[in-house]
Amino acid sequence: MTVQDETSGPMTTEAGAPVADNQNSQTAGVGGPVLVQDQHLLEKLAHFNRERIPERIVHARGAGAYGKFTVTADVTKYTRAKFLSEVGKETEVFLRFSTVAGNLGAADAVRDPRGFALKFYTEEGNYDLVGNNTPVFFIKDAIKFPDFIHTQKRDPYTGSQEPDNVWDFWGLSPESTHQVTWLHGDRGIPASYRHMDGFGSHTFQWTNEAGEVFWVKYHFKTDQGIKNLTAQEAEVLAGKDPDSHQRDLREAIERGEYPTWTAYVQIMPAEEAANYRFNPFDLTKVWPHADYPLIEFGKLELNRNPRNIFAEVEQSIFSPHHFVPGIGPSPDKMLQGRLFAYGDAHRYRVGINADLLPVNEPKAARARTYGRDGFMYDGRHGGAKNYEPNSFGGPAETGRAPWAPVTVSGTTEDHPAASHAEDDDFVQAGNLYRLMSEDEKQRLIDNLAGSIAGVSRDDIAQRAIENFRKADPDYGKRLEAAVQALRG
Ligand code: HEM
Repeated sequence: MTVQDETSGPMTTEAGAPVADNQNSQTAGVGGPVLVQDQHLLEKLAHFNRERIPERIVHARGAGAYGKFTVTADVTKYTRAKFLSEVGKETEVFLRFSTVAGNLGAADAVRDPRGFALKFYTEEGNYDLVGNNTPVFFIKDAIKFPDFIHTQKRDPYTGSQEPDNVWDFWGLSPESTHQVTWLHGDRGIPASYRHMDGFGSHTFQWTNEAGEVFWVKYHFKTDQGIKNLTAQEAEVLAGKDPDSHQRDLREAIERGEYPTWTAYVQIMPAEEAANYRFNPFDLTKVWPHADYPLIEFGKLELNRNPRNIFAEVEQSIFSPHHFVPGIGPSPDKMLQGRLFAYGDAHRYRVGINADLLPVNEPKAARARTYGRDGFMYDGRHGGAKNYEPNSFGGPAETGRAPWAPVTVSGTTEDHPAASHAEDDDFVQAGNLYRLMSEDEKQRLIDNLAGSIAGVSRDDIAQRAIENFRKADPDYGKRLEAAVQALRG
């Protein structure tokens, strides 16, 4: 990207003509009304009015940085993705961290999942892994996402986030119990973006050269160590330094303290999916490491700050449908919904040519598409033919599917997800609770009770508590007592 030199030469209009006066608008006589012929004034006011684009409907608040991904182990028997083809191979990346519910100007130090959206600029196009700092999610079907997010955002009447809405939805969606436990535990408020892990969360498909299929889950473990804030520490920090995470990331990189993460993958051979004890495509569940151990395969380093946050962070786009050959989707119903939602959001938020912006365009590959024109098209294809097939040597299809087909059977209707022997909304939430030390349990109960105590209706509070009781009777009992104590 060429960065304009803003330090010398005369100031100009947007058309490049010198500006004589940037302090006083032109008037009809001294003290008279302002003239339409002062085009510099009109241009300045009009440009200012159009400085904002729609903020992301979720994950509006975030910060980003560039860096590199280095392959540290041979995974070619699992995937033919070229950027993973050799130990030592480096790929440029851009990572945008975020919180979920807050608006663009929201404070960073809040209890909320953190986004971990990673763009690999590979030689076969951009690969986006649009994950979170949590291995699971609140729901398992995209059809529930808009309802869920409405409960996290501002109430249409009060204009604030309302505990009634939050706990009503969670109580009526028992599949959220695992993630809600995670969120109210110690890792619910990371101390910074550098001190937390990242997860692809969904199950994805890897395919090797021979066409063999593997289901995989990604884990990026922070090398800085996990550091969290208590609810009280976060409250103070959010007030004193609302930009705490953004500042921490930028300043660490400016100091040359480049944050790194070690990348791991869990790998399930395709034939094991059908009879695994729970649905391996259910986003509310983790795969126990005892069944599918973590296999290290790479190192992620962030080492360069963006020069312009609007251009490179606000206008950056990440999509779960940006795959490269050798990596593809799984039948996870949430992931399938996301394959639509992001491209659609980008067309609305940034425009049809969002992919042409420097942060979004492929860096190690060239986009050779027949997509043309539209708002802000820069004419990069010149006079090249804009149809395919053509007889002029234009880009042609490869004929090789980027990922492997999946066999399906059955009827087309509103099915629940495929059922497996141990599908259950509470087992893993209970396991997580039982894994905690006594101190951790106490903090979890305090955090949950503090939030549930704000609910105005008993039936909503009781239904929510019931889910935790089903996860573990002790969990439910202690939570109920703590809520009662707070409500008096
Ligand atoms: C951002 C939809 C679930 C992680 C977004 C955006 C939309 C969206 C529309 C804004 C995109 C933009 O304007 O650029 C959905 C839907 C979901 C879903 C419909 C469920 C079906 C998830 C899950 C994760 C996730 C499960 C993580 C595992 C993110 C992240 C961003 C984001 C990290 C911010 C990306 C960035 O930094 O630009 N989501 N989302 N989302 N979502 Fe989701």
